[in-house]
Amino acid sequence: MIIQRVPTGIPKFDELIEGGFPNNSMILLVGYPGAGKTTFSAQFIYNGATKQRARGVYVCFAETKETFLRNMLRFGWDFERLEREGRVAILDLSVTRESGLQKNLDTIMETMASLNASRLVIDSFTAISMGLKDPIDIRVMVHLLYRFLKKAGCISILIVDQPWGSSSLGEGISEFLADGIIHLETYFDKNEVFRRRLRILKMRGTNHTRRPHEYDITSEGFVILNGRKEVKTAKKTFSKPLTFTDLSKVKGIGSKRAEILKSIGINSAENLIEADPEFISEKLRISERMAYRLIENARKLVYKR
Ligand SMILES: Nc1ncnc2c1ncn2[C@@H]1O[C@H](COP(=O)(O)OP(=O)(O)OP(=O)(O)O)[C@@H](O)[C@H]1O
Ligand SMILES: [Mg+2]
Repeated sequence: MIIQRVPTGIPKFDELIEGGFPNNSMILLVGYPGAGKTTFSAQFIYNGATKQRARGVYVCFAETKETFLRNMLRFGWDFERLEREGRVAILDLSVTRESGLQKNLDTIMETMASLNASRLVIDSFTAISMGLKDPIDIRVMVHLLYRFLKKAGCISILIVDQPWGSSSLGEGISEFLADGIIHLETYFDKNEVFRRRLRILKMRGTNHTRRPHEYDITSEGFVILNGRKEVKTAKKTFSKPLTFTDLSKVKGIGSKRAEILKSIGINSAENLIEADPEFISEKLRISERMAYRLIENARKLVYKR
């Protein structure tokens, strides 16, 4: 069976995981204070809403909606406008922490359904579990949340706050249930320079990177930096013009389909990977399933798998 993938649109990140998150997956994003967990997740929602016609819900538990909106504007991401246009919803559940998990889940579920959202971020999962003192409660909550997320049929990012110096990733259950785990780390190198490093610890059904990758938070948001090894590969890539793969080389796309795709701004296999399957099926007059298949074929061609 083909694994459908959802690109994050975060520069150079998708290529570390074969093009994107597997569909309907629950991802744990674990990281130290200030590592960039909120930035990464918000960028995933923002790119979905602005580039892929994917609606998203961002749940703020740890910080207020007001702070979130203000900080995101620094990156040029106007979530208030997206919310007005019905493309995202920002839920501020920090004040209702006492009101019980089930009620919060109901609110999230209703919002997801009314928006027809396919992306969800919970910032943070740690903040929700702090309301529960008993480990049994946490266990119940994790299972409840997991079943809820699988039913919602979305990609979800659950943020896990990791204290400095801690090597534990979560409370012990969610790591096994999660389809993917991304770890964000900050550290000081031997010259006392502050650096950031990312690792993919798990991504089901995916031949993911096994190396650490340096990243940074810039005025544009989250970006993966080129390591020394990557610079080499990048040079090799440039000498062959692989960044623009001919559409007609994608299995299932003949010259006629390539023409139609070009007329709507999809000029290469790389563009096709990022396209919205619903939009493609509409324009090519094919089923959505077939559109997914073509996108998958493009991904296989570009990533040579
Ligand atoms: N506009 C900006 N330009 C460059 N770097 C920024 C900008 N805004 C934030 N940062 C960097 O990103 C860090 C915060 O990122 P973010 O809020 O995504 O982290 P976090 O992991 O969610 O933090 P927390 O654990 O507090 O929730 C800041 O400490 C700062 O180093
Ligand atoms: Mg945060």
